[in-house]
Amino acid sequence: MYTSIILTAAALLPTVFAAPPRLPTHFFKRCANETSINSTTPDTAPVIPSCDLSGLSQPTSTLTPPGADLQLMLVALGQGTQNYTCGANLTAAPTAIGAVAQLFDASCALTNDPTASTKALGSIEESAKSIGAHFFVDNTTPDFDIAGLGNTQAKKVEDCNAPSPTADVKWLRLEAQAQGSTSQVKQIYRLNTVGGLAPGNCEGRAAGDVVTVEYEAQYWIYA
Ligand SMILES: *[C@@H]1O[C@H](CO)[C@@H](O)[C@H](O)[C@H]1NC(C)=O
Ligand SMILES: *[C@@H]1O[C@H](CO)[C@@H](O)[C@H](O)[C@H]1NC(C)=O
Ligand SMILES: *[C@@H]1O[C@H](CO)[C@@H](O)[C@H](O)[C@H]1NC(C)=O
Ligand SMILES: *[C@@H]1O[C@H](CO)[C@@H](O)[C@H](O)[C@H]1NC(C)=O
Repeated sequence: MYTSIILTAAALLPTVFAAPPRLPTHFFKRCANETSINSTTPDTAPVIPSCDLSGLSQPTSTLTPPGADLQLMLVALGQGTQNYTCGANLTAAPTAIGAVAQLFDASCALTNDPTASTKALGSIEESAKSIGAHFFVDNTTPDFDIAGLGNTQAKKVEDCNAPSPTADVKWLRLEAQAQGSTSQVKQIYRLNTVGGLAPGNCEGRAAGDVVTVEYEAQYWIYA
């Protein structure tokens, strides 16, 4: 009899643990007191940090390192576009107007393989569910809306060239702003960037055109 119960339970497992469909971020923004007692859907908001990150060290750069009082909460893989717009002078490079990216939790992949490149993380995360979105509120205010962490609006406070500056967008240090933020996040570093650089000029385009350039990056997020 016990065997048959176990077999039945085992037969149900694939259904119970099947990956939930991709959901818009706002789906996760439920109040803490709204946990549904009679719902069959498990609460899908991820627990962050999802892996023990204490052994990870941030890729070295000339950026000011995070303060000793800060804790690494998440390494998010961002996949999206850097956006630029062309001015009236088409021989000049377009100017940055922000970025749009989906965020994936790369924390466990990195703890398993601390030397994994951003590209390698991309393939690891291909089947994973997005944990949030990165976008711009205005041209200078990046926003990170992450399930399990909350929303963070930030300002760029420092940048440095990527190791391949003619191929990859700069590395950045962002500082969280109280305004617009609901998370405890204090600092976000954009590191190990891949792609995303503006073209050298806007020839063949018109003034006002938006140029989107694909990029990937690791966002190291501290609270
Ligand atoms: C949950 O908390 C919010 C904010 O405190 C409150 O407005 C709401 O009525 C609460 N909902 C329930 C079901 O208790
Ligand atoms: C729980 O079940 C009751 C009765 O079926 C329903 O009215 C209610 O909306 C359900 N609550 C949740 C949070 O699913
Ligand atoms: C940037 O490009 C993305 C496409 O990746 C688009 O969805 C978004 O609206 C663009 N944002 C701006 C401000 O142009
Ligand atoms: C247009 O941009 C190019 C490249 O930056 C610059 O050399 C040139 O002087 C600019 N032309 C005008 C009219 O501003």
